[in-house]
Amino acid sequence: MAIFYQEDKKIITINTACSTYQMMIDKYGALLHLYYGKRIKGDAEHLLAYLDRGFSGNPVEAGGDRTYSYDVLPQEYPTLGTGDFRNTALNLRNSDGSECCRLKYVSHSITDGKYALEGLPAVYAKEGAQTLEIVLADEVADVQVKLLYGVLEAEDIITRSAVITNRGKGSITLEKAGSANLDFLYGDYDLISFYGRHALERNFQRSRIGHSGTVFGSRRGTSSHQYSPAVVIAEKDANETAGNCYGMLFVYSGNFMFEAEKDQFGLTRAIMGLQSDLFHYHLEAGEAFTVPETILTFSGEGFSGISKRYHRCIRNHICRGPYQNRVRPVLINSWEAAYFDFDGNTIFELAKDAAELGIDMVVMDDGWFGKRDDDNSGLGDWVVNEEKLGCTLKELIEKVNSVGVKFGIWIEPEMISEDSELYRKHPDWAMKIPQRSPVYGRNQLVLDFTRKEVRDYIFDSICAVLDQGNIEYVKWDMNRSITDVFSVERPQGNVTHDYVLGVYEFLEKLISRYPKLLIEGCSGGGGRFDAGMLYYTPQIWCSDNTDAVNRLKIQYGTSFFYPVSTMGAHVSAVPNHQTGRTVSLNTRGVIAMSGTFGYELDTKKLSEEEKEAVRVQTARFKVYADLIQTGDYYRLSSPFADTFTAWQFVSEDRKRTLVSVVLTEIEGNPEVHYVRLRGLEPEKIYIEKQSGREYGGQVLMEAGIRIPVEFGEYQAYQMEFVMKQA
Ligand code: GLA
Repeated sequence: MAIFYQEDKKIITINTACSTYQMMIDKYGALLHLYYGKRIKGDAEHLLAYLDRGFSGNPVEAGGDRTYSYDVLPQEYPTLGTGDFRNTALNLRNSDGSECCRLKYVSHSITDGKYALEGLPAVYAKEGAQTLEIVLADEVADVQVKLLYGVLEAEDIITRSAVITNRGKGSITLEKAGSANLDFLYGDYDLISFYGRHALERNFQRSRIGHSGTVFGSRRGTSSHQYSPAVVIAEKDANETAGNCYGMLFVYSGNFMFEAEKDQFGLTRAIMGLQSDLFHYHLEAGEAFTVPETILTFSGEGFSGISKRYHRCIRNHICRGPYQNRVRPVLINSWEAAYFDFDGNTIFELAKDAAELGIDMVVMDDGWFGKRDDDNSGLGDWVVNEEKLGCTLKELIEKVNSVGVKFGIWIEPEMISEDSELYRKHPDWAMKIPQRSPVYGRNQLVLDFTRKEVRDYIFDSICAVLDQGNIEYVKWDMNRSITDVFSVERPQGNVTHDYVLGVYEFLEKLISRYPKLLIEGCSGGGGRFDAGMLYYTPQIWCSDNTDAVNRLKIQYGTSFFYPVSTMGAHVSAVPNHQTGRTVSLNTRGVIAMSGTFGYELDTKKLSEEEKEAVRVQTARFKVYADLIQTGDYYRLSSPFADTFTAWQFVSEDRKRTLVSVVLTEIEGNPEVHYVRLRGLEPEKIYIEKQSGREYGGQVLMEAGIRIPVEFGEYQAYQMEFVMKQA
């Protein structure tokens, strides 16, 4: 049993393979957090200290005991209004306008299986999971809060969510709603977070969690390029391979907020949840609100242990559909090959070259519908522009399929251009604030996806396209941040969240109607790269930046939480369209192979020699594809700190490993670089495929290997080792 209850002490303990999470219902019915960390036997109640603290108020139930204060005790789900002056997970405005919620324990239950969340993405598990449900209530407000914990014992995963129900007669408003709070009684912690911008997402940042605290998140309507809804909280000496650290990953694709602070007595509190700006969620009598899920994990072996657990969790318990554990097709995308300037023949020519080069699929990107020869018009008009293509979609797909190549297509369902038939017919379907002119992004507006009639219309028009032929892949794009948050149908404080629910409902309908379809998420590259989207789209275009060297950083940051099988990565032309940098085809290939792998260039511009190199490259990828997509991934060095970037894939049975290295800085009279491999069997012998040389697993992991020294910038290497059979 992963979850158990100690009746005498009222302690609830969750054990996973390597961690223990513990809480206690105290004598006044408060739910206190006791411990989260390396697996322990016994309890941690003795850590709680009761001292008379000035300006830390005492609740009436303590009967005048000045040593009892919610301002000091570690809380499981802190709320505003209890006398806890730290950040809170929940702030509720009652029907009388007051902001106060005081929760007391009512009951709890432990059941087999993992809970699901209606209308929201969440971890699922067919077996090996348990659910803990703790019911808390505020009797005055007549509000019930159900805390949900999902436990995947073997995977070291604990998920958290909360369902808030208005059981009273009046309406209430949620002003702030978090799904997970972690209180660390003592210690110094660092925060590892990932910031970025369009075309340079998920940069690694490490900073100290101090007394002034830190708050970041997104108000962009999506999880955003700017900040990622995912953090590692690391003990101050923890690093890639050693030390205690904790992960918090929000399974959500909209506005979020993360807060961390060290309080006045040295306790560190971290909260992951919904962004409180633009969020004032109105609940009528009887209505309930589900806070999206946060996935927690603990590692006693540094960041790599965090990543390994999240990768497995996302691959096996978030991603769904036929491609979940299948090698993805190698694709060629028309965007950087032709942008808007193509016809059916351009796509067919790409397909013919693809067939010769070992590429499985051609994707027709933006520009095939309505009036769309640039990015100023046409969004919303999901009607094939047969005049531009020079044929019907059906004919084009049949031609592509006839040369043995699959066909995929780009869509951007949530958007509308003012210059579109749809806008001329339904100007009110675009989100705008009355009396104000909207803020434009890429000269387009956002459709009000909180409205069912809007979603249904777009759904039907997109299905009418998808039904025209054998479309095996869809790239779902979303190319702006949301500014004018307003809906004619909703309380305005509900709109940001209901929009995301609308997107999820649409995606769920789409995958149910087309269960074989592979969908790749995208938002100007990686602007909505989150675990919420991965529930519907098992891969996401990692960045609009295809520069191989920039990609080292983007993919490194992304790899902390998301498995390589989810990262859309392509080889593009040189000089690179975003940076002007020229990098060899080999290096571009090695880096794109740390992702779903594909191409994004005009094959007509490749020389015969380059075409041959592409053929070799796609064949090489296919040899490694399974290992890359399902193996354990290790970061061996950091592009933010080192002059070379190295990473490694190890098959689950540890019999095979692929080491990739890119030298990012070349020096005269150079230093020699070395890396230590990870995840191998120390007692086994491994043979390096290219040289046939044998090494002990322990030698590879402890003594390491030498990286070749070669002349020229951005050299890349792949080294494969296989375990010698006894
Ligand atoms: C976004 C995507 C690109 C491409 C363009 C098309 O920027 O990230 O890959 O699809 O839109 O307009």
